[in-house]
This record gives sequence, structure tokens and C-alpha cells, in this order.
Amino acid sequence: MSGVHGANPLRDAQDRRLPRIAGPSGLVIFGVTGDLSRKKLMPAVYDLANRGLLPPGFSLIGFARRQWEDEDFAEEVYQAVKQHARTPFREEVWQQLSQGMRFVQGDFDDHDAFETLKKTMEELDKAQGTGGNFAFYLSVPPKFFPLVVQQLKKHGLADQKDGSWRRAVIEKPFGHDLTSAKELNEIVHEVFASDQVFRIDHYLGKETVQNILALRFANTLFEPIWNRSYVDHVQITMAEDIGIGGRAGYYDGIGAARDVIQNHLLQLLALTAMEEPASFDADALASEKTKVLGAVKLPKDLGRDTVRAQYAAGWQGGERAVGYLEEEGIDPASKTDTYAAVKLEIDNRRWAGVPFYLRTGKRLGRRVTEIAVVFQRAPHSPFDHTATEELGQNALVIRVQPDEGVTMRFGSKVPGTSMEVRDVSMDFAYGESFTESSPEAYERLILDVLLGDSNLFPRTEEVERSWEILDPIEEYWDQHGKPAQYTAGTWGPAEADEMLARDGRSWRRP
Ligand code: BG6
Repeated sequence: MSGVHGANPLRDAQDRRLPRIAGPSGLVIFGVTGDLSRKKLMPAVYDLANRGLLPPGFSLIGFARRQWEDEDFAEEVYQAVKQHARTPFREEVWQQLSQGMRFVQGDFDDHDAFETLKKTMEELDKAQGTGGNFAFYLSVPPKFFPLVVQQLKKHGLADQKDGSWRRAVIEKPFGHDLTSAKELNEIVHEVFASDQVFRIDHYLGKETVQNILALRFANTLFEPIWNRSYVDHVQITMAEDIGIGGRAGYYDGIGAARDVIQNHLLQLLALTAMEEPASFDADALASEKTKVLGAVKLPKDLGRDTVRAQYAAGWQGGERAVGYLEEEGIDPASKTDTYAAVKLEIDNRRWAGVPFYLRTGKRLGRRVTEIAVVFQRAPHSPFDHTATEELGQNALVIRVQPDEGVTMRFGSKVPGTSMEVRDVSMDFAYGESFTESSPEAYERLILDVLLGDSNLFPRTEEVERSWEILDPIEEYWDQHGKPAQYTAGTWGPAEADEMLARDGRSWRRP
């Protein structure tokens, strides 16, 4: 069979397994001295170069206030790569990559700096053959988005001349509520057309998240039972063991629900619950995700079916952890949530009556993100009650991280003379099935920006639907009391356990 296909040049030309390599291009990072840039963006650029996925003349321009020369910037990138790159360091890759590195010093309101940026880009077009193709990565606090975007317009940097492209990459948060998200979208779209804007939700760049589509739509096994007739409920958990670290300025006033539920967790919900798209084209995917997000129904009683909390001092991994209110830079009267849990339903034929419980928190028991689809119990049991006492509900668990894979939990007879049934699990682990390690989310997403492939980037409509879900919850919290508390290193507040217990369910302890 393979011979037949192999002989067809047209088919080969479309072979999706061939590496997708970016054409002539460069990346401009605003906010290049920040944490994200150092820990994720710079290493991802190197890893892409190391995998041979960037063009030989690829250029990287850093823009920031710091008084750096090109060499200082290159040294910064070098350190970031040495510390955080996923793939081994190779001197020849580094040498080639560093040829295209430049630094532009300035404030975001500094017109001269943007003129220098323009000249630098033109110089790189000549020296490195970037062909006028540049992506602007706004790794800056959202309050600077309007200014940077306006500066790009004013200095003609967003213009796509002679077949070249210009793209804007925007990091979350996309606003802090629906109104601000709409304002932000307007500002960005005054300068960039929809197909020039790439909003990063790095969860969509994760292999295990993309695998939700493969699991659901490349198999026949799961889809027939992926509905209200078989599914009891779904639990989506994103637990982190870290506190807020040095991010007080960003985090306080934002909180867990805005930081993570509005984007990452609602995207996971959308991929888990949406209908099969006609294709994996960006439009078809966005349309299904938008549709299912639009069908999300909030609980009638937000006091009963949502919980927010803050971590109090405790022990984590053998170390003392301070409470949120004692963290440096946090207002001691802050009501910001570091934990949030919500119960949502989806008002459509497939999911009516099936709760989707979402939870996230900092300083929880351990770092784990998973989607657990929990199935109903068998409608009738021919076993003695005592034989199935240890049998839970069947579950399919998509292990997003850190132990990437999929687990199926079901009951099995315990070997022996009696018919005792107990939970067992069947496991798929990436580490065992594949020899290659998964790329980092940012590698995939930066490559897709350079290729102009927007499948993995949320659209305006998805972002707005997500705020429509979160806004009433945040408003309710604002008007009603204070966050509950949980001890650092535990699995969250008692209120969240009670929320599920009232439904006769309990949270998984991953
Ligand atoms: C970010 C949040 O989007 O995701 C952080 O702003 C969070 O608060 C981070 O720590 C978690 O990402 P990951 O990939 O480590 O799960």
C-alpha cells in the first residue's frame, strides 16, 4: 500500500508529517527583560533553531528600557538558552542564531526608539534576508498594549509591503472583563487585521491538549459515549504547587479565575465538549469552540456552586510557605482569589444536565493538570453489594501535565475465589509510546506565528464568550464577602469539597 501512495508526488507534497519550516522572518519581542521572555520565549526560539525549523537568517530583536548593547542582549539570550532550553546546546546553532540578534533600547512612548527599531528591521532585511517579515511579540503588561500597537502603526511597522507580512502576538490577559477585552480588541484591530493577530493561550500549544482532538476524533472508541447518556460529570483541574513568586504586581487584583479559568480551563472545556469540526482549519475549529462556549450555563446560585479562596501559611514540599496576604507586594486586605472552583453546565443536547467542575489554585498539593471524564455507574449490578464496595466510577483521564498521557479507569475482578471487583487502570504514557520528547508549547506557538497558522490561537469571539462566562462570577464575588482560606500544600478549601459533596460527588485527588 505504501508504495502506491509513495509514488504520488501530489500526495507527498501535502504530507503533513514533513517538518513545517518557517520562511524568511524575524521576531521582535517587547518586554524582552521579563520572566516569560527569559524562561520561555528565548529558549523556544533556540529550540526551534536547533530542530532546524527556523530559516538560516532568522532574526531576533529585543526591545526594552534596559541600557544594553546588542552583545549584552545576546549574552542574556545565551544565559536563558543555557538554563531553560529543552534541547541540547550546540555551538554551531548558537553561532548562526546570534548573527541575527539586535537590541533596541527605549521606552514604549519613545518615538526615536521606534524609528531605530524600523531601521534595525530594514538592516536585518539586508543582512539576514528576513524579507520584511516580522512578528511583534507583546510580552508586556496589558496597560501597554494600546501604546505599543499605536507606535507600531505610527511608524509604519504594521504595514505589509510588497508581499511581506507583519503579525502581532499578544499574551494574555486579554482584558480583565468583557468590556475591557472588547476595547482591547478594537485598539488592536485598528492597526492589525484579524489574520495578523495571534492571541497566545499557551495551553493550546501543549501536545497533550492538541491530543484531545486526536483522542476524540481519530478514534471510534470514545465518541459514542461522550455525552449525557454515559457521562456523569467532568472535572477539569489545573493545580499548581508554586505560590505567586515575584508576580504580585500582576496577580493581585487579577486572581486565579481571571488568570487561568477565563483562558486555559475554558479552552480545555471547549475542546472536551465541542462538536466535531468539519476540518481542523482555524475557522472550523474556532466556530465549534465558540459555539460550545456560548452554550455554557452558569449555576443559578453562584454562592452555592462557585468557591474562591486564598492560601494561608502552611508546609509545602518540606518547606514553610507563607500565606498569600503575607507575600511581598500583596495588599494585606487583598480579596484576590488564589483558588477558584466553578460548576458549569452546557445547554445543548449532548451535555444537558452534565456538570463540568473546573478548579485551579496556587500552592496546592502538587502540580497537575488533567481532564477527568467520569462515567455513570452501570445501570444494574448483578454483583453482591460487598463485591463492588471498592469499585469507583469508570473514568477517562487526560493527563495534560506533568505525567503526560491518558488513563482509563474501570473495574476488574480481583484474582481469587470470590467475585470481588476493584478499580484498575490502563495507561498510555507519552514517555513509553514515543521516543521523542514533546516540544514546549511556546516552540509550537512561535513556529505557527511565523508560518501564519492560526489554528492554535483563540479568536476574539472565544475570548469574549469566556469573559461572558466569568464576568457574573467575578461580580458576585465582588459583592459577597471574602475569599475562603486553605492551608498551603493542601488540596484547597473545605468549601470546595462541600460544593461537590452537595452533588453527591467528590474531587479527584490526582
Ligand atoms: C499562566 C498563568 O498562564 O500559566 C500562571 O498566568 C501559571 O499563573 C501558568 O503559573 C502555568 O502554566 P503551565 O504551563 O506551567 O501550566
